[in-house]
Amino acid sequence: MQKKWWKESVVYQIYPRSFMDSNGDGIGDLQGIVSKLDYLKTLGVDVVWLCPVYRSPNDDNGYDISDYREIMAEFGTLADWRELLDGLHARGMKLIMDLVVNHTSDEHAWFAESRKSPDNPYRDYYIWRPGKDGREPNDWSSFFGGPAWEYDEATDEYFLHLFSRKQPDLNWDNGVVRREVYEMMTWWLDQGIDGFRMDVINLISKVPELPDAGTDVRDGSYHFGGKYFVNGPRVHEYLQEMNREVLSKYDVMTVGEAIGASPEDALHYVGEDRSELNMIFHFELMDVDSGPGGKWDVKPWRLADIKANITKWQTSLNGKGWNSLYLNNHDQPRLLSRFGDETRYPKESGKMLATLLHTLQGTPYIYQGEEIGMTNVKFASIGEYKDIETINMYREYKALGHPEEKIMNSIYVKGRDNARTPMQWNAEAQAGFTTGTPWIAVNPNYKEINVEAALADPDSLFHYYRRLIELRKQHEIIVYGDYSLVAEDDDRVFAYVRAFGNERLLVILNFFGEETSFALPAEVAAADAELLIGNYAREPLPDQGLLTLRPYEARVYKYTVS
Ligand code: NOJ
Repeated sequence: MQKKWWKESVVYQIYPRSFMDSNGDGIGDLQGIVSKLDYLKTLGVDVVWLCPVYRSPNDDNGYDISDYREIMAEFGTLADWRELLDGLHARGMKLIMDLVVNHTSDEHAWFAESRKSPDNPYRDYYIWRPGKDGREPNDWSSFFGGPAWEYDEATDEYFLHLFSRKQPDLNWDNGVVRREVYEMMTWWLDQGIDGFRMDVINLISKVPELPDAGTDVRDGSYHFGGKYFVNGPRVHEYLQEMNREVLSKYDVMTVGEAIGASPEDALHYVGEDRSELNMIFHFELMDVDSGPGGKWDVKPWRLADIKANITKWQTSLNGKGWNSLYLNNHDQPRLLSRFGDETRYPKESGKMLATLLHTLQGTPYIYQGEEIGMTNVKFASIGEYKDIETINMYREYKALGHPEEKIMNSIYVKGRDNARTPMQWNAEAQAGFTTGTPWIAVNPNYKEINVEAALADPDSLFHYYRRLIELRKQHEIIVYGDYSLVAEDDDRVFAYVRAFGNERLLVILNFFGEETSFALPAEVAAADAELLIGNYAREPLPDQGLLTLRPYEARVYKYTVS
């Protein structure tokens, strides 16, 4: 397997709006991040992924970009951004930027031109179609609810938007558009950045005929048209072109967001022989608690599904491509609330999940606040929520007659604002995030859960993350070792072995809040195994090889075989 710096790195994701506000306007900003660089250095992460900071009207918090080469006024200036980049580099950390090029904002200059007339030179930058039978050109739904088309009176045509109506999709089949994107990427790379996280990159190529997704006669309902744009017909051609013309000229890392990708799909993007991306974010693991009705159709997860899913990805990509590892991000609920026990065992379960994140093969991504055990939030009413996806879903489900309580419960469990409440720095007003009024309310638990408290407690989740990150630097097996599942049928414990030469790592994770026993594999019991890290006080290995695991106990043993 090829050794690469981005395989050996740990990435920290920053959602700038909610990280740190330096000027009291209630909105996180670049100078706020600059003021916290030493904190990131203490944690030990290698790379920062910055969610979009470009100019944007913020219909989708920066994922609707109106100027790719300017900074959003609320976040600061290009000079602030430069200070951030230099500050990271001076501390030996790298910076990757979010690349959002499936769509722009409708306030981007290209779109303003495009909507003027059918023969405007920018018309073909976007996907315009005349209506069909007095309706939208096809029956596709948008990811944020409603149709994926918006009617534009000026020219009596519709434009495609897979996300909000303020996020028109770019037409990647137009070579001029691709050139614009590559030039913009080159511009940022020449500023000295270290790579890109690519937003919904596997949606950029659409089947040109844009067929209806539903099979019935148009009945006014909208359907997911994924088969016509997920891993679309020319996506690999475009990514290889991007690689040839831009990325291959720099030593940078790339991670593409790939909705609906299976491991087989993933290998087409990240296969070492493909010259496309270094890794993708897949969503299969994030779907373990979704019912047949999709994301908002909440159901409990099962450990067996988590084990099967992780095992499938670990083994399918091994030696051929590279995994990204994440358990939450700015679009997902908090991992502690979702997979752990935030009430009875916040520390133990948080550490157990951290152990999982850091001991699989792949590059771990930590989402801001995860390292101090931030949790989901329950706002009393929909009025306090800010996320467009959440608000649209609420309206849609209300109109369909779903009970308020059921809708709110889905939001509590799955809503994106769970991850977007302000970072909790200390126990002072507004958790030390701002001296003003935060753009979204602070989670009331900030008095107990905050950075200051975490730094002061040697046994905190934060210090456990720090040790895990350190261990990765000391043991190549954590990065490169092969993975195999053990005790597959154990319905309480997730255990696996990593193998690298004659070294072995055994990871044992009790996924529940009850004591359980676990029989050590014979080779461990026989070897002089060393406990690398665990989330409880050390205990000697039992003679009979039968471990009693305490609630959410995690242990990582290292040993050698001959
Ligand atoms: C995925 C991003 O992570 C999400 O936050 C955004 O809303 C959509 N892509 C659209 O850009």
